[in-house]
Amino acid sequence: MDRWLGKVAVVTGASVGIGEAIVKKLVGHGMKVVGCARNEEKLKQIASEINGKGQGEMFPFKCDVKEETQILEMFKFVKQSLGSCHVLVNNAGLGHRASLLSGKTEQWKEMLDVNVLGLSICTREAIQLMKATNVDDGHVININSMSGHRVSGMIFYSATKFAVTALTEGTRKELREIDSQIRVTAISPGVVETEFAYRVYPDDPDRATTRYASMECLKPDDIADSVLFALQAPPHMDVNDIYIRPTQQKS
Ligand SMILES: NC(=O)c1ccc[n+]([C@@H]2O[C@H](COP(=O)([O-])OP(=O)(O)OC[C@H]3O[C@@H](n4cnc5c(N)ncnc54)[C@H](OP(=O)(O)O)[C@@H]3O)[C@@H](O)[C@H]2O)c1
Repeated sequence: MDRWLGKVAVVTGASVGIGEAIVKKLVGHGMKVVGCARNEEKLKQIASEINGKGQGEMFPFKCDVKEETQILEMFKFVKQSLGSCHVLVNNAGLGHRASLLSGKTEQWKEMLDVNVLGLSICTREAIQLMKATNVDDGHVININSMSGHRVSGMIFYSATKFAVTALTEGTRKELREIDSQIRVTAISPGVVETEFAYRVYPDDPDRATTRYASMECLKPDDIADSVLFALQAPPHMDVNDIYIRPTQQKS
């Protein structure tokens, strides 16, 4: 990770779960990390826990990735305060149990806004900033899902993650067309024990607990370690796709 020392990363959905674990790993490896989410208090709490212990630093930034103006403000802050962006981790995401036959449009829309549009706007802004500041060895990492590769469970959520599969490969292709060496990776986890299922079942936390108790789940650190694996690959090696399931997961 030495070549990333002092470099700038943006991690979305950094207040809990996988995003929080990624921020902690990157800061631990000496990166300057802008961690964004809506829960600013939680972001500040994480920053106070990890800052001042080494060379790395977390910069909490309140940003709802459903709102383009807030994303643009965040990248303005990144440029003005830190100079550039070398790594983007698109991690913010959510699922609703909103079936295709009777689901609520507003829930479909929220999943599209965060999982697809927010990710696409952040990618565009990060790559434009990389290009404007001559960063040609940057890295975009999309936290996809096994639901981005096979249809089961929450179908509309799955559709947004299938979109992430297409967007990841599409971003790589557009970058290669302009002879850029910026690398693009998708990481597709199976079940990871986080707040995710509790947010899927806001009125029935027992269901989330049961889901996570049904197998030995992945931990957020397992996914953060795979981010490090992709970042540590030598410059000629572009890790495109990582699938990770709990060993006991059947689906
Ligand atoms: N857990 C799993 O089993 C699993 C499996 C496969 C893929 N994934 C993917 O992994 C990623 C992280 O999920 P997780 O398991 O860590 O879930 P989580 O514990 O529920 O965390 C979700 C994160 O996304 C943020 N977020 C949600 N809506 C946002 C918005 N509008 N603007 C900014 N940030 C927003 C949340 O922050 P605030 O609420 O503070 O805004 C939070 O930090 C997601 O993309 C998810 O689809 C998870």
